[in-house]
Amino acid sequence: MKENLIVGNFKENIVGINEYLKSLKPNKNNTVVCPNFLELFVASKSNNIKFGAQDVSVFNGGSFTGETSAKMLKKFGVEYCIVGHSERRKFINETNAQIKIKIENLLEEQIVPILCVGEYTFLNYDNSINEINYQIKDISSEMRKKIIVAYEPVWAIGQTKPASNEWIEKICNHLKNCGFKNVLYGGSVDETNSKTILNLPSVNGLLVGRASLNAEQFNKIIDLGEEIKWKTRQH
Ligand code: PGA
Repeated sequence: MKENLIVGNFKENIVGINEYLKSLKPNKNNTVVCPNFLELFVASKSNNIKFGAQDVSVFNGGSFTGETSAKMLKKFGVEYCIVGHSERRKFINETNAQIKIKIENLLEEQIVPILCVGEYTFLNYDNSINEINYQIKDISSEMRKKIIVAYEPVWAIGQTKPASNEWIEKICNHLKNCGFKNVLYGGSVDETNSKTILNLPSVNGLLVGRASLNAEQFNKIIDLGEEIKWKTRQH
């Protein structure tokens, strides 16, 4: 059976979370929304949906001004957390070593880390695999089984179209061969292209940026995820 998880990454955008959640179809257990920390706090009171954070501290609590620990996330009902998004690697200089600690802290609290990996530029297969292998080199085989990995080619994020289906399948298949059980794709996903991506054998779901900001648009992607899961269950 092919499970599809649809994750919305709101980044540094305010969606008006109460209204947003009213428009989102309820009881979608394949859906995770990741608002900023402020809206996450408001949202965590709703039990129609699962929530994720966009980041977590490397510290476990104490005198670390401005930080939010995995323990705190757990306390407020957060079930998932994005780590190592390319925007954090690039603009906040997040390193592999910090990402590993974040994953360990999250697993300790039974929060599922969603580790983002992906090459910066589109050159060729070997280059992409080398870059990705570097990003996952510190993640043990035990961890690989427990976490979700999201393949997000940086060159396809915030663009007009995603990577080609053949390319996505090739890289996601590589990640499967590296021991990751759950592999998502992210990068310019919307309701017009998500069906074919979700149908790829190595893809277990989507990480959606811009197209998750509008609940109606996101509902359509969620419905496709459900439909494909249902279809694959028939075989
Ligand atoms: P996008 O962003 O869907 O707007 O391309 C995806 C992401 O960065 O997670």
